[in-house]
Amino acid sequence: MKMTKPLVATLFAALATVLVASCATTAEKVDVRGLRPNQLTEQDVAPTMTEYVGKTPGEQKKIARDFEQQPPLIPHSIEGFRIDSKVNICLACHDRPSYQAVKAPKIGDSHYRDREGKELKHISMGRYNCNLCHVPQVDAQPLVSNTFQPVKTEK
Ligand code: HEC
Ligand code: HEC
Repeated sequence: MKMTKPLVATLFAALATVLVASCATTAEKVDVRGLRPNQLTEQDVAPTMTEYVGKTPGEQKKIARDFEQQPPLIPHSIEGFRIDSKVNICLACHDRPSYQAVKAPKIGDSHYRDREGKELKHISMGRYNCNLCHVPQVDAQPLVSNTFQPVKTEK
């Protein structure tokens, strides 16, 4: 069948009306939030301030590890603990010469090897920024629930 121009135009107009109408109703109904607590169209709300669970080093117990080779979680607060090119306060307590005096856990031997496995006199620079791998804890609820179970060790 050959369509006449006015017929095609009418069909398009009808289709457009249906589309616009359906879009309008969908936009009203759908509540798009993702992981953010507010609507996508609204401005982000600043998260509330959270405090570290741990306090001054020396007052906490170690936190059990959940899998082999896990970087242990930091049980104490690290508020104001500086790590920059001149100062690394973590080393002051955890490095080889000083850990015994302050009764801090010794840095893992792996940290004193370079990536080829060569023994070094000082901590490897690849480990200098401790907080890349070791993180302190706050009492925060996970954004997405999960069913993770730590590995069971035979101890
Ligand atoms: C004043 C000394 C001191 C400073 C500074 C310090 N720590 Fe600690 N750290 C400790 C002590 C003591 C513990 C043992 C747990 C406790 O008593 O809080 C500990 C525990 C840890 C643990 C847990 C080890 C394990 O085997 O479970 C990690 C990881 C750690 N600290 C990393 C850090 C990092 C990273 C920094 C720097 C941002 C840092 N610490 C700064 C003294 C210190
Ligand atoms: C690239 C990741 C990484 C960085 C950076 C790093 N660590 Fe670790 N750390 C680990 C892992 C993984 C372990 C557990 C396995 C091991 O001992 O190697 C660990 C273990 C430890 C332990 C426990 C050692 C033991 O024998 O129980 C301490 C304490 C520690 N790290 C302190 C530090 C400090 C302080 C720094 C910064 C100067 C640091 N780490 C930087 C990954 C890292």
